[in-house]
Amino acid sequence: MHEYHYEACVLLCEEMDLRDAAQQFGTPLYVYSKGSVLDHCRHIEQAFGDTSHATYYAVKANSNRTLLKLIAGEGLGADVGSGGELTLALQAGFRPRSITFSGVGKRDDEIAFGLRRGINAFNVESTEELEIINALAGRERSRARILLRVNLDIDAGGHAYVSTSLKQNKFGIPWQQAADVLRWAGTLPNIEVGGIHSHLGSQITVEDTFRRAAQALTRLVMDLRASGISVNDLDFGGGFGVQYRGYLRHPHLPPEEPEELNLSAASLVKAVLPLLKETGCRISIQPGRSIVAHAGVLIVKVAFRKEAGEKVFVVVDGGMNDLIRPSLYHSHHQIVPLLLRGDPHETVDVVGPLCESGDFLALDRPLPRVVRGDLLAVMCAGAYGFVLSSNYNARLRPAEVLVDGSSASVIRERETVEQL
Ligand SMILES: Cc1ncc(COP(=O)(O)O)c(C=O)c1O
Repeated sequence: MHEYHYEACVLLCEEMDLRDAAQQFGTPLYVYSKGSVLDHCRHIEQAFGDTSHATYYAVKANSNRTLLKLIAGEGLGADVGSGGELTLALQAGFRPRSITFSGVGKRDDEIAFGLRRGINAFNVESTEELEIINALAGRERSRARILLRVNLDIDAGGHAYVSTSLKQNKFGIPWQQAADVLRWAGTLPNIEVGGIHSHLGSQITVEDTFRRAAQALTRLVMDLRASGISVNDLDFGGGFGVQYRGYLRHPHLPPEEPEELNLSAASLVKAVLPLLKETGCRISIQPGRSIVAHAGVLIVKVAFRKEAGEKVFVVVDGGMNDLIRPSLYHSHHQIVPLLLRGDPHETVDVVGPLCESGDFLALDRPLPRVVRGDLLAVMCAGAYGFVLSSNYNARLRPAEVLVDGSSASVIRERETVEQL
């Protein structure tokens, strides 16, 4: 599963020298390993053993059409968060019955689109949304399957922006109200109640957090049934954390302590599956990051070295408009040179070219000494990378390429000035 590795001090993606990719396609550049995407899909699926289930890939993590086709080809379903994502998922070959629609602010036209295409279920976040789906389903002469998103008031840990199941967050309906809402939903003529759904947040690395959520959901399903409400489907959401720190190790690289050893989405799934199975429900999950994060890197080129007093700035040609995670969430991405020359290490800020002090890829980071023209890989950038890119400062979004063995092909062209 480790598709990025050094061979003779040169960083390869699968069998491709990433310096060649940079030369061929320019920088900044998103590179993805095809083998990594496929492996991560298979790894998660294997964790279920022979338990019948559904895995809905969370399209928001990376919606590149080619990657979506790969994931659809592995038999996974898709969880979409907008009409645009629904369109991409359908075009990539996900069957409508393998698509769920999540999100706190679905528009009427997006709901109608989903109904017309006969998607599997809407994960509903409020009673008002439920009323609207019922009305629109009536108008479309169809019935909408729904799962009620419950807010478990469990702290997912990590950055506040990616914690979604505390009572002060906008997501879901307080679990204490689930029985009343589901009983009422059952009386709506155009609604078919499937069950309940929860999504705790993202980049969760603590097994116990998932276990507490699984326990709470299992208890809730039992209580709902005891009060006469039928619950057939239980969707556990996504959020399975990945290793960002210390992803690559090499004697010439500064060592980084990984978040947790042996952590994987598959092991987290295995940890909660026995609990969820106790309900006898159809189980589903919605992993995003854990499928694509490790597959991608962002390659940037050093534009300038700049020393100001004690500080050393390494100014690179990719910034927060290309990868906003460090600025937005203070996320850690390991940064490594594509060629290791055995240079001494120094502590630097790796910053982008934009007019913001918040435009950085790493702060106070030990790095082998680099000079103008050197190429760096920002590791584990396959999830919430390109999808969160922008045209700020009228900068062009980078190209995306897919590596398969020793060759690479463009899967999204670099933007042109005319497209601005
Ligand atoms: C409803 C829902 N499901 C699944 C996901 C995917 O989460 P992750 O990429 O952490 O697996 C998200 C992301 O925030 C989400 O909002």
